[in-house]
Amino acid sequence: MLEIKNLSLTVPLQGQQVTAVSDVSLQIQAGKTLALVGESGCGKSLTAQSLLRLGEFQGVHRTAGDITLSGKSLFDMSDKTLRTMRGGAVAMIFQEPMTALNPVFSIGSQILEVIALHTNLDKRAAHERALNLLHDVGLQDGEALLRQYPDALSGGMRQRILIAMAMAGDPDFIIADEPTTALDVSVQKRIVALLRKLQQDKGLGMLLVTHDFGLVAEMADDVAVMYAGEIIEQAPVMQIFDQPAHPYTRALMQCRPEATLYGERLTVIPGNVPAPGAWATGCRFQQRCTWAQDACQNPVSLQAWQAATHQARCLRVGET
Ligand SMILES: Nc1ncnc2c1ncn2[C@@H]1O[C@H](COP(=O)(O)OP(=O)(O)O)[C@@H](O)[C@H]1O
Ligand SMILES: [Mg+2]
Repeated sequence: MLEIKNLSLTVPLQGQQVTAVSDVSLQIQAGKTLALVGESGCGKSLTAQSLLRLGEFQGVHRTAGDITLSGKSLFDMSDKTLRTMRGGAVAMIFQEPMTALNPVFSIGSQILEVIALHTNLDKRAAHERALNLLHDVGLQDGEALLRQYPDALSGGMRQRILIAMAMAGDPDFIIADEPTTALDVSVQKRIVALLRKLQQDKGLGMLLVTHDFGLVAEMADDVAVMYAGEIIEQAPVMQIFDQPAHPYTRALMQCRPEATLYGERLTVIPGNVPAPGAWATGCRFQQRCTWAQDACQNPVSLQAWQAATHQARCLRVGET
């Protein structure tokens, strides 16, 4: 299990460290997919990157909490263990397949580099492994592909190659941050099918960062909804769709294109996600919430609703 416990992170903003993720707890179980959803700027990527301690390269500091892999803290690991873990036990797939590949190296050299980093295979076996990985992600004619350069390939092929590279270290967990957002709709469908197949075949645990509820319905076992740096609702996927509890979750679900009738405008929630440093005291959604009342200015914690596994951070959660 990969677990985040009460994590708080600060980011550099105008010369100060400002809290951008506060008291977040998440569990990614072996073989299960947890979807992390919310509007842009809510802290989803910061949370996802924390699982590999990547944010530290961009001035992100941890001020509280812990992250553990099979019970072992990432913050107790040596630099060497951490480097092996990145792309080894825990691999990451990013949104932008264009920028994640290096344009000056062939596909072959980039895949072989990852294989060399995570296995002890000799040259021939590594080449064989590269071909198998390409085959696993549905790419034909691997030999020719290994000699190609990234800019000769379509976005969908590049994303498949990045997924192949993520699989090279035989990970137990995959962190996928908006893995299909940059792709055409038809390509998105095929990449989702691929991710699902890999996940099922290899029993991967997955954190899927997305704002696409279609993708959530298709892939997730559990859902965590994030708003202004904190989790505001968490539940098994069925509960989220059948009985969304938090007004923010409900509003987000109404923004789904398929929830909008033909000819109607696509619904967007009025207002913006407050930036780090501009969060309200009490409920951070209160300015945009149609249910807000004076008491919402008091701190509100996650509370169980309907089931112990369904939690929401709203005073009025019992009212429907
Ligand atoms: N390295 C960084 N330095 C400064 N601010 C950052 C950094 N990373 C993220 N932020 C800020 O933190 C907030 C959350 O960012 P992010 O996690 O990328 O949101 P999301 O992925 O939900 O869109 C945003 O306001 C963003 O501008
Ligand atoms: Mg993001």
